Amino acid sequence: MQTVPTAPAPTATATAAQDGPAVAPRILTGDRPTGPLHLGHYFGTLRNRVRLQADGHELLLVIADYQVITDRDVADRPAEHAENLVLDYLAAGVDPERAVIFTHSAVPALNQLMLPFLSLVTVAELGRNPTVKDEIAHSRQSAVSGLMFTYPVHQAADILFCKPDLVPVGQDQLPHLETTRTIARRFNDRYGRGTTVFPEPKALLSDAPLVLGTDGTKMSKSRGNAIPLGADEDRTAKLIRAAVTDTDRHITYDPDARPGVAALLTLTALCQGRRPEQIAEEIGSAGAARLKQVTTEAVNEHLRPLRARRAELAADREQLRRILRTGNERANAIADTTLAEVRSVMGGI
Ligand code: TRP
Repeated sequence: MQTVPTAPAPTATATAAQDGPAVAPRILTGDRPTGPLHLGHYFGTLRNRVRLQADGHELLLVIADYQVITDRDVADRPAEHAENLVLDYLAAGVDPERAVIFTHSAVPALNQLMLPFLSLVTVAELGRNPTVKDEIAHSRQSAVSGLMFTYPVHQAADILFCKPDLVPVGQDQLPHLETTRTIARRFNDRYGRGTTVFPEPKALLSDAPLVLGTDGTKMSKSRGNAIPLGADEDRTAKLIRAAVTDTDRHITYDPDARPGVAALLTLTALCQGRRPEQIAEEIGSAGAARLKQVTTEAVNEHLRPLRARRAELAADREQLRRILRTGNERANAIADTTLAEVRSVMGGI
């Protein structure tokens, strides 16, 4: 478990204002609305966002609906997926009173920032982005769309419109954050006349361990190896019972040689705040069937409060929609201010 600072008051960070009253550092991060969140999201980022908010950071969460059409032709039920993301955020403990949860498609001024931003990067630079290259290689489309190629610039607009201090991301998002920082720097150089219009946000790399799915590879919805946060206890048991293990009865923690067994041990360890080696030792020669029982109990017990909250929240879809509407209004107010400033420093365009 990570330690949570005890002082509730936000403290200034390297990026916060040096003088005057301490301002709560602003955090922006987000997700594509492609389906329900799973345990990989939970231990990877969700839990950390809740902690950051509890520590006093201002939290903005972008539901990146336009990003869904980067690697597929049409977005499948985008509004429903967006509402379900809100549901998973709240179930995990995000406080909707203090967070701004919004879909970027509902914020016109944010999208308009993409035009000047596009003028600040070269086609060659866009072509070198390793995450985009990887996504193109795995795309479901036969040709690369202009949006696929340029979405890191759109993501820069997602980020810079609210001038955050920190952007919590996984490793794969670092190239996009570099693009964002480059755009901020070039914008300031070209139009700022000595002032900083866009401070360069810092990446906050989570120290979360890689969460493996039920086949021993990275947990991901598209690999069909994920345990959704919203799954009930029976479904969780079924998914874990079907997990891939091996024929060695004696349970040991060996991620390289025994990825399937290691995946279950890691999940159990994360849920119980213990080390996977310790759990392996306790199970010893009781075999994979026992390990699966232990993992199922650990996951179900750990998620019980979250799932209870989730079920309660899920009963009121109108409330989820209201939270999103309010978030969109607040994001629009922020984006309008930023766009007005951008137009002003650019001489009116
Ligand atoms: N690209 C991110 C992903 O695929 C989602 C995202 C969109 C995002 N805009 C963002 C993440 C801004 C952090 C900040 O998961």
